[in-house]
This record gives sequence, structure tokens and C-alpha cells, in this order.
Amino acid sequence: MVTVILFVQFDWRFSAATASTIVAYVLFTQIITDWRLQFRRTMNARDSEANTKAIDSFLNFETVKYFNNEEYEYCRYDKAQAGYEKAAVTSQISLSLLNLGQGAIVAVGLILVMWMAAAGVISGDFVMVNTFLIQLYLPLNFLGVVYREIKRSLVDMDKMFELLEHKPDVVDVANAKELKVGPGQIDFEHVSFGYSEERGIIKNISFQVPPGKTVAIVGPSGSGKSTISRLLFRFYDADQGRITIDGQDIRDFSQLSLRKAIGVVPQDTVLFNDTIAYNIHYGNPEAPWEQVQEAAQLAQIHGFVESLPKGYETEVGERGLKLSGGEKQRVAIARTILKGPRILIFDEATSALDSHTEREIQESLRKVSRERTTLIVAHRLSTIIDADEILVLRQ
Ligand SMILES: Nc1ncnc2c1ncn2[C@@H]1O[C@H](COP(=O)(O)OP(=O)(O)O)[C@@H](O)[C@H]1O
Ligand SMILES: [Mg+2]
Repeated sequence: MVTVILFVQFDWRFSAATASTIVAYVLFTQIITDWRLQFRRTMNARDSEANTKAIDSFLNFETVKYFNNEEYEYCRYDKAQAGYEKAAVTSQISLSLLNLGQGAIVAVGLILVMWMAAAGVISGDFVMVNTFLIQLYLPLNFLGVVYREIKRSLVDMDKMFELLEHKPDVVDVANAKELKVGPGQIDFEHVSFGYSEERGIIKNISFQVPPGKTVAIVGPSGSGKSTISRLLFRFYDADQGRITIDGQDIRDFSQLSLRKAIGVVPQDTVLFNDTIAYNIHYGNPEAPWEQVQEAAQLAQIHGFVESLPKGYETEVGERGLKLSGGEKQRVAIARTILKGPRILIFDEATSALDSHTEREIQESLRKVSRERTTLIVAHRLSTIIDADEILVLRQ
């Protein structure tokens, strides 16, 4: 509009100078802003890299100490931070460059028009042209800032969009059914699976766990015992064959209802950095307090907890660090008992217990699993002595 007014009221040269200033300004802003985006991208990448490294070294602080690698971790973090620093400085310099260039373009345009106006000063023209130009350049500057900010925010959102578009490995089928807790018979029918295509882990496995029975799986480390329990829990889908519960393919159920029906005591138990009570209650946050204690009793941990000065309010530390391996396992067993699922999976759940405690807990496990379909992974034969059937995995 300003360009048109200048053209109509004054001289075509005024508007030509203004128009070319605007075009130069817009082009310059666009080109430089797009070029600057890479620095923003690098900044974000380095920032999340540094964060990941910091968190990783804190989580593994014992390992860091065991190997005297504080200095090493420090350097790793520092390197990532240095990358961020460099990108941030480059980003700032290029921003200054942008501002400088924008300012220069506007200044040149202004000088040009002012000079033309001054050359033919006729009453009041100069002031009027000046006013028009201020009307023009102030918003122009504002637009430059907005364009830059929008572009920058888009880059910042990159990662988020990437995450949103990421397809999970396991998805519910359309109109997935709810798994009604029935007798709980498990069937593996010619199941094959590998974490990657090059390397099959499980090759054509078939077996059945009748309702309420206990099947044990033994085999050397790495033979795929834990993998079988992960497949049943549907952390992964089988490549071939199918797994059924009460005759129905587990892929037809919603993951939520499937996982509600299955309780897992995993091989490596990690606890939340909270109290023992919190960690056991986690199995079913709605359960009344008496049930929590009952579960602790069944898992043979109640006595130990009561002997602690703070009892159930004892903090367990990060990942349960302040408990021994066996205590952690028993807390994990207690919280799975509290969940009260139809199907139980114990993945070397008693491996860290001494044989005396294991014998004691065995009795409780027998009680707990009597009414339930149970899959038990173990490498100590004493653990599975009561199983109805024992499967041996080879290679
Ligand atoms: N998430 C994973 N990605 C790739 N390979 C894996 C993964 N988990 C386990 N594996 C591999 O699969 C094989 C079987 O693992 P697992 O079922 O945990 O054995 P185990 O019988 O000792 O429980 C191992 O060789 C292991 O290296
Ligand atoms: Mg395992």
C-alpha cells in the first residue's frame, strides 16, 4: 500500500526503490533463515545427546565407580556439551548476521528514498514520505522475526513429529477383543521368531500349558527362554505360527486386556525409587493394605520388611539398589502376586535367592500357582521340581 501511495502521490522512483527494498529484505530473510536452520538442528541433537549421556552415567553410577571411569564419563559429557556450545555459538553468529543484513537493506532503502525526497524538497513532502516509510519498515522487521521464530519452532518440533509418526512394533487389530479371563490354557503353535531377520531365535516351537498347570522351561543362557515369555506377553509378535490363550490368537485381543491377565516376574527386577510399600502396591494400586501385606507374606518378604527400622516405608533407592538381589526378587514376586493374574510367568525369578530362602518361597509359589496357569523359567532344577512338564531348549 505504501508503495502504491508513493507511486500515486509522488514519483514512480520512490515506489520502485521501496519495492526493491522489500523484495531484497524478504529474499535475504528467507535464504539466511533457511540456512540457519541446520545450526538449530545440530543444537537440538547435541543437547539431547548430552542429556542422554548424563542420564546414562547417573543410572550406571556403580559401573562408573567400579571401573574408575568418572573422568571418562566427564569427558564424554563434556564432548557432547562442546558440540552443543559450538552449534549454539554458530547459531547466534548467524542470527547477528541476519539482523545485520536486514538492517543494512532497510538502511540502504531508506537512504535512497530520503535522498530522492531531499533532492526535491517541496513543502512537507520529506516528512510525509518519511512517515510512510516508517509505517512500512517497522512491520517488515516484525515479519522477519515472526518468520524466523516459526521456522525455528518447526525444527524444534521435528523430533516430536518423528515420534508421533513412529509405528509401534505391536499394534492392536481393529476392533480388538477384550480377553475374558477363562481357564487360561496357553498354546504355542509352530512359533518362530527372531529379533532381526538375519538371526532366528525361536524355531518352530509348539507346546501347551493346560489350565492351572505348570510348565517349566530350561536351557542354556541365550537359548530363548525369556524370549518365549516376551512373546506371550506380546512385547513382540511371532514371525510365524501363533500363540493362543483358551484357543484364541493373542493378536486378536487388546494388549491392555492381555497384559492384565498375565503376571510377569522378570529376570532383572528393577524397582522404583520409592518405598517398599509403594513398590509392592504397584502391582495393583487399588488393593487394600491387608492384601499388600498378604502378598508380602506369600513372597516371604514380610518378616524381613518388619525387621527394618522403617518397615514398609523403607526407601529402596534407585532401581532398588539398597536391597539385595534376593530381596528385590521377593518384592517383585509380591507385587505380581498382588496383581493376581490368571497366568503367571516366572523368569528365573528366584535365581538370586539362596537355596534355603528359595525352598521357603517355593511353598508359597506352589500355593499361588496352584490355581493358575504358570510358565516358569529356571536354570536350577530344584526350582522346577514340581512342574507338570519340563521343556528343554537347545541352541
Ligand atoms: N531385544 C533384543 N534384541 C536383539 N536380540 C535379543 C534381544 N533380546 C534378546 N536377544 C537375543 O536373543 C537370544 C535369546 O535371548 P533370551 O531369550 O533372553 O535368552 P535366555 O534363554 O537366556 O532367556 C540371545 O542370544 C539374545 O542375545
Ligand atoms: Mg532369560
